Amino acid sequence: MSENKKIPVILDGDPGHDDAIAWMLAKSDKRFEILAVTSCSGNQTIEKTTYNARRVCTLLGIDAPVAMGLKHGLLSEPFDAPVVHGQSGLDGPALPEPNTELSQLSSVELMAEVLKNSPEPVTIIATGAQTNVGALLLAHPELKEKIARISIMGGGIKYGNWTPAAEFNILVDPEAAKIVFESGIDLYMAGLDVTEKALIYPSDFERIRAVGNQVSGVVADWLEFFYHFHKSLGYPGAPLHDPCAVAVLTHPELFEIVDMHVEIECEGEYSRGATIGDTRGFDGPAPNAHVLMNVNREAFADLLVEAVKAYDGREVKI
Ligand code: BDR
Ligand code: CA
Repeated sequence: MSENKKIPVILDGDPGHDDAIAWMLAKSDKRFEILAVTSCSGNQTIEKTTYNARRVCTLLGIDAPVAMGLKHGLLSEPFDAPVVHGQSGLDGPALPEPNTELSQLSSVELMAEVLKNSPEPVTIIATGAQTNVGALLLAHPELKEKIARISIMGGGIKYGNWTPAAEFNILVDPEAAKIVFESGIDLYMAGLDVTEKALIYPSDFERIRAVGNQVSGVVADWLEFFYHFHKSLGYPGAPLHDPCAVAVLTHPELFEIVDMHVEIECEGEYSRGATIGDTRGFDGPAPNAHVLMNVNREAFADLLVEAVKAYDGREVKI
């Protein structure tokens, strides 16, 4: 990923406060060319995450088509996370109504169309469950070579968050994650090992708010809402999981990255959804993922402050 080269991307996620901030970061960097946005179920029902995706795109000025994903995982029932993201899936500040129609295509159909039509391979940034990407790979194996890389937020080598073993996005659809990890496609994994270190402190919220444009105000309010839950668990700041999956593509120098073989546990009485990384460092299977393990927290916070400045002069009716 050379410094000035355009990076065509599909944004796939379940917004979600940190998904929305990840998309803010993506839209702020001119190197990203956002070709499509696809929703998945996770933080809330697919109807709610899709509506949120469209509202976030309107706020940020992302004018790519938005398509709705599946209601549930490939083999699993949906479950959501209102305790983290609220009943709407994106509680907190008021947002604009969507200014564009929802695509008539499903998420998988839109992804396939974008890949087929793109002259160069496209990067998929997936910050929810892997359902859409897994379904795409099942339905269109011939399009694999049109995927440059997949950058996900999901998993954790050392621990989980939704269960002791599993991180939320992987637990929502382990079968889909398994397809992605076994695809052979260049894969970046921003799991809890790094994302729980990507903490944005209340003092950073205020730096973001002080930028003084509409988007910076909304992002600061999202951070306040997202932090409220984490503060009750003793976190000193808001762990910005999903933006790590974006930042690593343009600012890899901020991260410590270890290539590793990672297996997805789809069974297990206590371990369904675990991401089992081979950290033994000898003779194991070849790595299938670039796993982010640490981040320069201060530089990451500075990156977000700089990113909101890109929205100076943009204001939509709310
Ligand atoms: C992940 O779960 C969701 O609640 C967040 O948006 C993030 O993608 C963290 O486990
Ligand atoms: Ca998410």
